[in-house]
Amino acid sequence: MTRTVYVNGDYVSEHDAKISIFDRAFLMADGVYEVTSVLGGKLIDFDGHAKRLERSLSELDMRSPVSRDALLDIHRELVRVNAITDGLIYLQITRGSNGDRDFVFPDPETTEPGIVLFTQNKPGLANSPAARTGLKIISIEDQRWGRRDIKTVQLLYPSMGKMMAQKAGVDDAWMVEDGAVTEGTSNNAYIIKGNTIITRALSNDILHGITRAAVLRFANEAQMQVEERNFTIDEAKDADEAFITSASAFVMPVVEIDGVPLGDGTPGARSRRLREIYLDESLKAAI
Ligand code: PDD
Repeated sequence: MTRTVYVNGDYVSEHDAKISIFDRAFLMADGVYEVTSVLGGKLIDFDGHAKRLERSLSELDMRSPVSRDALLDIHRELVRVNAITDGLIYLQITRGSNGDRDFVFPDPETTEPGIVLFTQNKPGLANSPAARTGLKIISIEDQRWGRRDIKTVQLLYPSMGKMMAQKAGVDDAWMVEDGAVTEGTSNNAYIIKGNTIITRALSNDILHGITRAAVLRFANEAQMQVEERNFTIDEAKDADEAFITSASAFVMPVVEIDGVPLGDGTPGARSRRLREIYLDESLKAAI
């Protein structure tokens, strides 16, 4: 099915969607994005994504071309016209184009920001077989820039990380800086020891995951404690369980790190419970 996408104020067929070759996201990765999941035709944690988008924009001295309410309408309209039951909505806002290439930011008074949204249809997104088998991951060096808290479209290193994982015959990679795990290539990283969830504290070193915030809120419900601190790959290999979170994977168990199986090499009970709670609660609050 040909998708209808949203480009700078218009709903158009994906084949007719056009942006300028001078758009700064294309030339300089000067743009930010969000990925929001859709389950049962409803948006999961839209407000969390809208708030983080505002923060990313303000950290880069950019402004949104549309209000939060207009953004919600566009998300819902794309879900409707593309008949999405389960899937993802990708949103990108760029600094736009002033018709040339220049390192200096164009004058925001005369250069409109650009906005693009499109859907990805993923039937059964919450019933992924990977949740039953768990993920195998490798560790790689974190070679990204220093403002990973801003959700920019410069995703080349995470993309290279996924290729390193693919080459190693595993599912994903966790990145390590100064001996400590930062996060996964496109997700936040956690280990579980006893009844405690351990994950890196928020800073400029990692993306402030919307799923992360929800899962840590639900930890109580799973009778678990949370420790926000650095952990090493050795500590992770020795953990009882591990998992990742993101808007597209929700809570996904990790069963092997650098060839070392965790526990019996199958998804741990606590990770599975956290996934259940996350999906139940998020569906209840979906809009
Ligand atoms: N990635 N860390 C990184 C580096 C990410 O790219 C993502 C999300 C997360 C998790 O954030 P959230 O829970 O808000 O989705 C953490 C999205 C899904 C992507 O790029 O497709």
